[in-house]
Amino acid sequence: QWPEFVQIKEVGPRDGLQNEKKLVATPDKVNWINMLSESGVKEIEFSSFVNPKWIPALSDAHELGKKIKRNPDVRYSALVPNMKGLELALEAGIDGASVFMSASETHNKKNINKTIDDTYPVLKEVVREAKIAGKHVTGYVSTVFDCPYEGKITPEQVIQVCDRLIEFGVDDISLGDTIGSAVPLQVEQLLDAVLAAYPKEKIIMHFHNTRGMAIANIMTSMQYGISRFDSSIGGLGGCPYAPGAAGNVATNDVLYLMHGLGIKTGIDEKKLQEAALFIQNKLGKPLPSKSLAYAASQ
Ligand code: HMG
Ligand code: MG
Repeated sequence: QWPEFVQIKEVGPRDGLQNEKKLVATPDKVNWINMLSESGVKEIEFSSFVNPKWIPALSDAHELGKKIKRNPDVRYSALVPNMKGLELALEAGIDGASVFMSASETHNKKNINKTIDDTYPVLKEVVREAKIAGKHVTGYVSTVFDCPYEGKITPEQVIQVCDRLIEFGVDDISLGDTIGSAVPLQVEQLLDAVLAAYPKEKIIMHFHNTRGMAIANIMTSMQYGISRFDSSIGGLGGCPYAPGAAGNVATNDVLYLMHGLGIKTGIDEKKLQEAALFIQNKLGKPLPSKSLAYAASQ
């Protein structure tokens, strides 16, 4: 009953680095992303075209877009909050634009400085222009289970946002457990509602591993037929506007799980491990992934 193939989007260079105090030099990022490009991963979210005052760690997005070596088999995407971001991102040569907003009013306000209602017209224009430019567009919805400020978020709140993003023309939706709080029961409740509204192929799950539940939540998602997941190499990362949030589920751990279950990912575990050790070395601290730590100790 498991999917034969699971599609992984590597978000380490974006979600992984956005909250890191230690800045990684642009040439190191270029080398690292080039390593990731050769690992077999089909999509890399390489940066964000946001206000550099808000996210200094990603202020080199434009230069990075110009300098990374493009593998034609990889889609290079980036977060884009508004038209200014889209213009810069297009200039830098993105293949995919990821727009983002929250199902929670307070988190949306803290993260992008707008109410949910005021965000819609901005994203509508970005999605339209990105599609005219021939780009793939993903719509992220954050805090789909719990908000660090408001508590429980209902599936109805999430569907309301998804409906608008789909109406604007996004190709797919990534549902974010921003603070890594969900347990499988919540995943079931959300997917019951979401998959009644949209085909499973359009849905990507984006789990943070704050409380160690991400792998369990991925298993539950696969029971619902979901086969697309976001993950971060080594488990690097966190959201700057969600206090205490840890990194995404580690790509290394997801690969260990998938390959052990006989599910293909197209990704070479060894190459991914090398890329993880490279960035771990640049950051000068161990990354959270357990399978990475084990493999590196052998
Ligand atoms: P704002 O301050 O409300 O924007 O920011 P503004 O339009 O009033 O402009 C203010 C200044 O920002 C101006 O500069 C603009 O030019 C500049 P000034 O005149 O003061 O010198 N500016 C920009 N500069 C570069 N690129 C841009 C841009 N836009 C405006 N695109 C904005 C609004 C959304 C830009 C801001 O709030 C921002 O950058 N927020 C960053 C949010 C962010 O990156 N959060 C983390 C990613 S989301 C996430 O991690 C969740 C996710 O992983 C899923 C999950 O886990 O749930 C996706
Ligand atoms: Mg995230």
